[in-house]
Amino acid sequence: MTQPEPANLRRIHIFDTTLRDGEQSPGVALNHNQKIEIAHSLARLNVDVIEAGFPITSDGDFECVSRISREVRGPIICALARTARADIERAAQALEAADKSRIHVFTSASAVQMQHMLRKTPEQVIESSIAAVKLACQYTSDVEFSGQDVMRADFDFVIQLYLAAIEAGATVINIPDTVGYGTPGGYGALIARVRDEIVKGRNVEISTHCHDDLGMATANSLAAVENGATQIECTINGIGERAGNTALEEVVMAIHTRRDHYQSETGIRTRELYRVSKLVSRLTGMPVPPNKAVIGDNAFAHESGIHQDGVLKHKETYEIMNAELVGREAAVMVMGKHSGRAAFRKALADLGYDTDGHSDHGFNDEALNALFVRFKELADRKGQIYSDDLHALVGSSVETSET
Ligand code: KIV
Ligand code: ZN
Repeated sequence: MTQPEPANLRRIHIFDTTLRDGEQSPGVALNHNQKIEIAHSLARLNVDVIEAGFPITSDGDFECVSRISREVRGPIICALARTARADIERAAQALEAADKSRIHVFTSASAVQMQHMLRKTPEQVIESSIAAVKLACQYTSDVEFSGQDVMRADFDFVIQLYLAAIEAGATVINIPDTVGYGTPGGYGALIARVRDEIVKGRNVEISTHCHDDLGMATANSLAAVENGATQIECTINGIGERAGNTALEEVVMAIHTRRDHYQSETGIRTRELYRVSKLVSRLTGMPVPPNKAVIGDNAFAHESGIHQDGVLKHKETYEIMNAELVGREAAVMVMGKHSGRAAFRKALADLGYDTDGHSDHGFNDEALNALFVRFKELADRKGQIYSDDLHALVGSSVETSET
């Protein structure tokens, strides 16, 4: 596949919210040192923005955002605030030591949330949003604005709300599908409306923030990119409230692998992805499913004989990205009942056996075939076959032929 020149690609900003929305995963509570360790790893990964926390919620969160602001250099450090004065002042205070700071002001956009949660009319929501954005602008020139639950909101109201936020000074407008209700077509169309009816050439960035309740967070985020969004909000391993947020590693590798399609690129150092994923999984206690894209144990493992044979002949037969590119060891052949003769021969050769029959103890084709039959019998009984099993198999075949 011919890929476009890097200079011709649009830059997509990665806004990582592992420490804020990600930490809202049920059962997850990170202590300060763990959050600092993750924040440093995110800086090494080269994310553009770290949403470090929601300072008004607790003294602990305030302290943590302050410490990250003091200690972590590189990315913009962002703090979340509702449209209340106290929230914004607390966020600004926590961000004081940051090199580059952002205040992220949020409200609700759907009727159900405005009525039952905020207990405000749409007009009052617009009014408080304008006041909040103006106040945040007194502390930083970088103010992001979000109206929760846009995909269940009246889109005409969404346009009105965001227009008001931009006129009040917001520089990033984030469009959250808070409950993961959107479809790629519907969400993409809304982003296109925001681009055409609100942004219209102004120096304002469109951001996407999706949840995975219907398993569409990655698809929806990418639909937003196709329709004008240049910031993606996401978390490592896709952790977050309920079914989680958009997974950072998925959108980054989708954009990189299909830059021919998205005509875009992120600034992420992809070779750091696996290490950060492991760190977040260990510190949060949330295991990564083996079949998870990019970072799951099986993401670069080939089991079936046809696939193994193909990959041994030419990697690109069944691989669309290199394992090394995301910081993992080269793709592995899993030896099991689906494995073919070619992979079996290669596994023995990798363990140091002569599978070409050159030496006295080498396996000629006949011996290898006999061993392969026994390997299949063992794989049928045992499932996965490890190096020790192969050594034992070879050892027993040598004993059999000597007795
Ligand atoms: O999902 C959501 O709506 C949020 C907002 C605070 C942006 O996390
Ligand atoms: Zn969210």
